[in-house]
Amino acid sequence: MEKNSHLQPPLLEVVNLYTHFRTPRGIAHAVDGISFSLEQGQMLGIVGESGSGKSVLSRSIIDILSRDGSVAYKGQVIFEGRDLRSLSAREMRNVRGREIAMIFQDPMSSLNPVKKIGVQITEVLTKKCGFATGPARNRAAELLDSVGIADPERQLNNYPMHLSGGMRQRVAIAIALAGEPKLLIADEPTTALDVTIQGQILNLLQQLQRKNNMAIILITHDLGVVAGYADQVAVMYAGQIVEMCKTEELLSHPRMPYTEALMKSAPVLSAPPHSRLDTIPGLPPNLMDLPGGCRFHERCQYVQEKCREIMPKLESEKSSEHLYACWFPLNNGRPSS
Ligand SMILES: Nc1ncnc2c1ncn2[C@@H]1O[C@H](COP(=O)(O)OP(=O)(O)OP(=O)(O)O)[C@@H](O)[C@H]1O
Ligand SMILES: [Mg+2]
Repeated sequence: MEKNSHLQPPLLEVVNLYTHFRTPRGIAHAVDGISFSLEQGQMLGIVGESGSGKSVLSRSIIDILSRDGSVAYKGQVIFEGRDLRSLSAREMRNVRGREIAMIFQDPMSSLNPVKKIGVQITEVLTKKCGFATGPARNRAAELLDSVGIADPERQLNNYPMHLSGGMRQRVAIAIALAGEPKLLIADEPTTALDVTIQGQILNLLQQLQRKNNMAIILITHDLGVVAGYADQVAVMYAGQIVEMCKTEELLSHPRMPYTEALMKSAPVLSAPPHSRLDTIPGLPPNLMDLPGGCRFHERCQYVQEKCREIMPKLESEKSSEHLYACWFPLNNGRPSS
């Protein structure tokens, strides 16, 4: 992805990852052969409709899905040269929070409602980062300050319920940053927030990415959210990546009709004012009963016979870094209907 990629391995490499759920009704192919890599300090946006497998992918990377046998994995998740799949549950607990941190749509799912905010942050610092109690409290205040919380000393004594949704998400980010992770996975971190607060949180994530040289995976169903923030975007459909490239390239020259349809259904900042928003006709396929060929073919306005029969691979043309999985990709100048 980057010019110096031959000098050092990427921070994260996901190689042909499959996450299948065994259910009484059959096998759900939630993540179905995904590969990508992410360099240190880069932001990758993962976009796709509800149910496309974005959350299962992120939970598979940090291995927080059930270990009760209902989940079948295949493939590798290589972080700084180590295959995370080969680590024990204990080793993986040390990776989580310390080297890879995650924030969720609902900050309350990562905050404990009955513990003061100060206690929640200092706990991470003392248990995971080797801080003594006194310095941990000072560091906790610094962390709150770094995520834009005013009067951090006083806020340490508050409970999550005393804070607004946006402030809670800032606290969740502060906790995620406590271990100085090299990778932060943010799963729909702004969906529950109003638009102004959304922008503030995304700006904050971008500042932290640059200041700490932290890589971020930003998951969203909204292409408008990744525009202006993510360096690269991967578009997911029915458990697979169907297009991946630099963000500006994706927004200006989408090749996969699904991406084009997503763009028309999302308010993109670069779109002219009052552009019409369409919804994508039809529904994503049932993950337990996937169609043959391209998984988008039933909804694609450009569908041809080959699309029904053979699944296109995620590939680029010549030496381009623009990957897409489509037999009949959109041309740059092609009029779209
Ligand atoms: N534990 C599970 N057992 C069976 N199927 C599951 C399980 N968890 C998720 N799935 C299925 O995997 C698919 C992908 O789900 P996932 O939550 O990753 O979607 P998503 O892209 O994050 O959607 P959203 O935008 O709504 O968050 C869905 O069809 C979901 O029903
Ligand atoms: Mg999700």
